[in-house]
Amino acid sequence: MTRILVVYASDYGNTKKMAEVIAAGVETVPGAEPVLRAAETVSAEDLLTSDGIIFGSPVHMGSMDWRIKKLIDSLCGGMWMKNSLVGKVGAVFATGSGHGHAGSGAELTLLSMLNNFAELGMVIVPLPKSTPGYAQSGLQWGAWSQSADENLKPIGLSDAGLVAARHHGANVARVAEALKGKTLFAG
Ligand SMILES: Cc1cc2nc3c(=O)[nH]c(=O)nc-3n(C[C@H](O)[C@H](O)[C@H](O)COP(=O)(O)O)c2cc1C
Repeated sequence: MTRILVVYASDYGNTKKMAEVIAAGVETVPGAEPVLRAAETVSAEDLLTSDGIIFGSPVHMGSMDWRIKKLIDSLCGGMWMKNSLVGKVGAVFATGSGHGHAGSGAELTLLSMLNNFAELGMVIVPLPKSTPGYAQSGLQWGAWSQSADENLKPIGLSDAGLVAARHHGANVARVAEALKGKTLFAG
């Protein structure tokens, strides 16, 4: 089986819900199996035994949630030293209130997680603009959905955002399956 680890941090359930939808997308790909984990419960084995790793965060003050950063600094740091995650497939997602209709830090949140994946030597899967749902709720860096209205009142995630998220999970699973067992990089 191609194992796809889907990691999230969540206080109010939005990012967790998107993680569940991404995991459901992984499940649509024959031979792929999602492993869903809250960031604080992820083990080294979870990371090392996965073919693909997807991190998701709520946007907090324009950047990623501390639990995702803690995971990166604690577990992924040692793996960076040993090149343990080189060649694994990586992708990201986020939810945010999106106040101001420019994402309010969504791009920075997604990019800072992708930056860590690049540091780790992972093969990054973007979200193509051809993805269903992208036009209403997409970003090229990964799945993103707005979870509040202009008064910061919670509105839940949009259907379009969840459709894009489901495809994002399936895309990652297909790429991981295609690359599994291949030697991709020198060194
Ligand atoms: C402390 C805090 C800071 C936040 N900062 C931002 C922000 O900078 N930009 C944004 O778009 N949303 C921000 N939000 C809103 C959350 O990103 C949004 O509600 C998200 O969907 C929550 O995810 P969750 O339900 O998984 O906890 C913030 C929320 C909290 C609690």
